[in-house]
Amino acid sequence: MSGPRKLFIKSFGCQMNVYDSHRMADAMAREGYIETDRPEDADLVVLNTCNIREKATEKVYSDLGRFRTLKNEAASAGRRMTVTVAGCVAQAEGEEIRRRAPYVDLVVGPQNIHRLPGLVAKGETAVDTEFPVEDKFDHLAKPARKNIRARGVTAFVTVQEGCDKFCTFCVVPYTRGSEVSRPVNKIVAEVEHLAAAGVAEVTLIGQNVNAYHGEGPDNLPWTLAQLFQRISEIRGIERIRYMTSHPRDMSDDLIKAHRDLKKLMPFLHLPVQSGSDRILRAMNRKHGREEYFGIVARVRAARPDIALSSDFIVGFPGETEEDFDETLDLIRKVRFASAFSFKYSPRPGTGAAEMGAQVPEDVKSERLQRLQALVEQQRQEFNRDLCGQEFDVLFDKPGRLEGQIAGRAPYLLPVQVMGPSHLIGKVAKVRVADVGSNSLFGELIGSEQDYQEEPQNLAAAGVS
Ligand code: 5AD
Ligand code: SF4
Repeated sequence: MSGPRKLFIKSFGCQMNVYDSHRMADAMAREGYIETDRPEDADLVVLNTCNIREKATEKVYSDLGRFRTLKNEAASAGRRMTVTVAGCVAQAEGEEIRRRAPYVDLVVGPQNIHRLPGLVAKGETAVDTEFPVEDKFDHLAKPARKNIRARGVTAFVTVQEGCDKFCTFCVVPYTRGSEVSRPVNKIVAEVEHLAAAGVAEVTLIGQNVNAYHGEGPDNLPWTLAQLFQRISEIRGIERIRYMTSHPRDMSDDLIKAHRDLKKLMPFLHLPVQSGSDRILRAMNRKHGREEYFGIVARVRAARPDIALSSDFIVGFPGETEEDFDETLDLIRKVRFASAFSFKYSPRPGTGAAEMGAQVPEDVKSERLQRLQALVEQQRQEFNRDLCGQEFDVLFDKPGRLEGQIAGRAPYLLPVQVMGPSHLIGKVAKVRVADVGSNSLFGELIGSEQDYQEEPQNLAAAGVS
């Protein structure tokens, strides 16, 4: 067969998986693979999976069924299709995946993704989920400039992986391993490479990103706030974001960075999970509700307009109506701009899965509905308060309608304005005129001249 080989890659779950998927695509690009969004054309299929909740895990198996058919069809046409399961389901289930779905060729854990090219080249079936001694980041290919551009002007960069906290509901410490921070110079080199290709906003990601303590150029451990400062000095980087943080690691210097560092966006995703001290203890969260209120107060004192977001679990084993009321009360007191919420899902091997007093499914569903209604009300209030305000928007793509461009507010909300497409990749000031259900509608502020194309500046910024 002629032409380059094709890779279809699908990411489930969190941003860490999105990042890993990009890196796998970069590694395979070096081997001559180009990405396709048509799985039926693919020579290599990678499902980068999530197993944080049972539903996510089952979704992988139901999706896999489809690839058995496609693989058979490819074989009938004389073509080999290599089916790979990567990510956290691969790590947690290992051999079990090939027992349930024998047509899967490769099972690759999150710490082993750098070995994908070698495994594919061998052409044999394999399960690679041992935690390797080498650092996967040292063995991953740099993304090509054209791939970076195709992914847009914002990018994720993994700075920390794994978790040592062992919340009793969570599989992460088992699937992603113990906490590891990447050294500062490697992160800086990666961000410089992205910025040179036109990336203007980086989101530093990690399961416990604010526990970051990577080695600095002075051979001492650096905090996340120190890393922000260094990254803010990189030419072309206009905005810095980060997630996900743990309340325990919300240190003073990180809070101060929200006051002092202009490029650090006023958005904080700080999962609390529950508002009941009794449940927080059973979850092994290592913080109480008063401690959370204290952090929120300090963060708001540093940056009054900050948008707060959180994760909640309802129906954790033993959760009573009173415990749940405490969660609703915490939400009312904090006022969130957005939040994710989930029904507790027992995960094999975690502490809470073995606890008595599991909450019935219908009770979980009913609580989830009530919690989501409250969060939705707060989300709308937050958005409504932005009406009439002026702030910078980083434009990242064409808008929904002809002549529109779309971007993100500092608070992460999507914003649509009528404006010239050469503003894509740039920051411009916007006044919010209207608030829709999921995005803001605004107008550019400033004179026509401010938005005229300047070829020499575009070249300097590396935008072709
Ligand atoms: N059941 C339900 N939700 C969970 N999360 C993590 N583990 C579970 C589980 N077993 C949620 C937490 C976490 C988010 C990423 O997923 O709220 O912050
Ligand atoms: Fe999971 Fe808790 Fe670690 Fe977050 S802090 S990844 S919820 S164990």
